[in-house]
Amino acid sequence: MASVSEGLAAHLLAALGDGAVLTGPYDMAGYAVDWRGLYHGRPLAVVRPSTVAQVADVVRLCAGAGAPIVPQGGNTSMVGGATPSQAGSAVVLSLERLRTVRAVDPVEMTMTVEAGLTLLQAQEAAEAAGMLLPLSISSEGSAQIGGVLATNAGGNNTLRFGNARDLVLGLEVVLADGAVWDGLRHLHKDNTGYCLRQLFVGSEGTLGIITAAVLRLQPGVTARAAAFCALPSAEAALALLGRLRLRAAAALHAFEYMSGGSVALVLRHIEGTHLPVGAADHYVLIDLGTSAPADPLEATLEETLAEALEAGEIADAALSRSEAQRLAFWHLREEHAEAQKRAGASIKNDVSVPVSLVPVLLREAAALCAVAAPGLRVVPFGHLGDGNIHFNLVQPEGADPAAFLARADALMAIVNGVVKDLGGSFSAEHGVGRLKTGLMEEWRGGVELRLMRGIKAALDPSGLFNPGVIFPGR
Ligand code: MLT
Ligand code: ZN
Repeated sequence: MASVSEGLAAHLLAALGDGAVLTGPYDMAGYAVDWRGLYHGRPLAVVRPSTVAQVADVVRLCAGAGAPIVPQGGNTSMVGGATPSQAGSAVVLSLERLRTVRAVDPVEMTMTVEAGLTLLQAQEAAEAAGMLLPLSISSEGSAQIGGVLATNAGGNNTLRFGNARDLVLGLEVVLADGAVWDGLRHLHKDNTGYCLRQLFVGSEGTLGIITAAVLRLQPGVTARAAAFCALPSAEAALALLGRLRLRAAAALHAFEYMSGGSVALVLRHIEGTHLPVGAADHYVLIDLGTSAPADPLEATLEETLAEALEAGEIADAALSRSEAQRLAFWHLREEHAEAQKRAGASIKNDVSVPVSLVPVLLREAAALCAVAAPGLRVVPFGHLGDGNIHFNLVQPEGADPAAFLARADALMAIVNGVVKDLGGSFSAEHGVGRLKTGLMEEWRGGVELRLMRGIKAALDPSGLFNPGVIFPGR
């Protein structure tokens, strides 16, 4: 007699066809491990449906067999949010074959895209139509729309255009009973009861499977200007941010912070990178953009930086003189995660505090970590304009990675202690995933966690979707 898992795999194969159901360990390997290599799961099967109807079939079959579903997009989670457990009972549902651009609408200023399209492909589709999809994250070449929405990704342009949830007008979602909710509306105003789409955005795949979305676009960018600056202190970075907010106003698209230590790792581990300014303990990358044809962006940036230099806020600055140079500045910033991965084991603290308190966070958390683990490399960087710092810690040079990771909880607690004192959050943009479920009770316990459990129970009563993510003890 066939086992439950063999029976389910056979039914999935019958529903989806050859090539869409993987069960061999070698075929499933890439779907079973997270990007950081922290979680090694054991899926029962990996399914790759290519239509929404097939996603619904998968949900019905898995629900019938009592097999949990782990939705997976580009598998770029930093918190193990898309990796199955070791139990061998979960089906990984990859959305990678749902990648159609269903529509791009220049009147509505929207695009309707399927979940498996990468963020970069979606950006390119918007650009081809003369518009801008204003969401940008370091992993955009792999991260897929479904995952980006399910985790409410933030990234580099949040200070100007908001997080993923601010760009969503409509969603299509497969629910726990296999029903398809067609909420693909293009409405800019729609007050008709609870805003259901926002429940799924940021739910980390625990409430339903996002299969498509209507995203809000912006007019295409006609000019850009960027600068890479070396600064004497984190306080100076704040002063510069304030200055730019007034001078550049809506043209300020990104204001990214990098510590001296984190840039040093990029220069060391990423081929072809070079520092465009003198060495410093603090750097920022400024990116301005406009869709107004006659906006003198370069002059604005140049004048603002001259004032900042005069005021002692910057020590050195390089202005991009070409698009290639601007992209080189961004390369230096966007390779931070990869460089830290190559430097050994790292502990990621994706935290946020009020913007004005970032210097306090940087100073206090660095001092405490240095005492707790002498030799560790404190390499913070991130989205200063949003108060979101990746307060990452890399193992001491030559140390045993496993021994360092064994101290992860203790070191995270030190950083989070400072974050809490400053009124911040332990998860700014990466989500809770599997990594941080243990913190939910302490940070969101009581009324908030009770409400969240109620929502989970209402939408996914049998706990089908992504068990072990967000909620402690499941
Ligand atoms: C980034 O902003 O590059 C990321 O969110 C990555 C990270 O924390 O390592
Ligand atoms: Zn980030």
